[in-house]
Amino acid sequence: MEKFFNAVKPGTREARLGAEVDPGRLPRHIAVIMDGNGRWAKRRRLPRVAGHRSGIRPVRETIETCAQLGVEYLTLFAFSLENWKRPRIEVETLWQLLRHAIVEELPELQRNGVRLQVIGRIEQLPEAVQRDLDRAMVETSTNRGMQLTIALNYGGRAEIVDAVNAALERGRRVSEVEFAGYLYTAGMPDPDLLIRTSGEMRVSNFLLWQIAYAEIWVTEKYWPDFRRADLVQAIVDYQKRERRFGGVAEAESEEVAAAQR
Ligand code: FPP
Repeated sequence: MEKFFNAVKPGTREARLGAEVDPGRLPRHIAVIMDGNGRWAKRRRLPRVAGHRSGIRPVRETIETCAQLGVEYLTLFAFSLENWKRPRIEVETLWQLLRHAIVEELPELQRNGVRLQVIGRIEQLPEAVQRDLDRAMVETSTNRGMQLTIALNYGGRAEIVDAVNAALERGRRVSEVEFAGYLYTAGMPDPDLLIRTSGEMRVSNFLLWQIAYAEIWVTEKYWPDFRRADLVQAIVDYQKRERRFGGVAEAESEEVAAAQR
């Protein structure tokens, strides 16, 4: 967390919130549904693509802050399988923005020791996008800091179907743990914290298998307005929650044990 405190101005909301974070209980994996770019633009009477453009700053801040705090995995939902239904100009602008962001942000990813990964049906993306992604993944592959995963052309149900088919090809029955090894996220821990912007209380086909026990944190803010302090607030709130994974609280289980003695 030292890197975080070196980067924030003392006395600001983010610095105050940062002081509340317990560095020993950080979420290992944070997943984010970045929602509300279109509404942000509409409210300002701007074209939808202006919302996506303004969505780059919070992407950069979120990556940087998670890396500085010591979060191990960050997964961002950037393009769903269903997003192809949007107007062609919007879809094309999204790919342009993504390509531009990858090239522009690569030095910053390297400086922060971030390793880039992608999940989704990547082979269906425009070839130029695949090329830029491949290059950035190769160049960051030996970084030992946070793993940044971008979900592109991603759908949670499609991921499960792809995993089932991969398991069937091997012709064998699988356990839950083995099944997870067939998902796009094989080898990654499940998200501990799922953040969603723009106030919608939905999971929108994102990491359906993996978020079984994730804590969900929703803000009313649209994604372009999401700031470093909001991210730290989400972590502070997460640390106040009690995760029971279907069991009982520690104090209660002590009570039960005492009653049985
Ligand atoms: C949701 O807002 C946002 C998206 C579908 C795209 C997110 C993409 C970016 C922030 C830019 C590029 C990403 C990276 C990783 C560099 P919406 O358009 O669904 O908003 P609405 O629900 O208000 O219409």
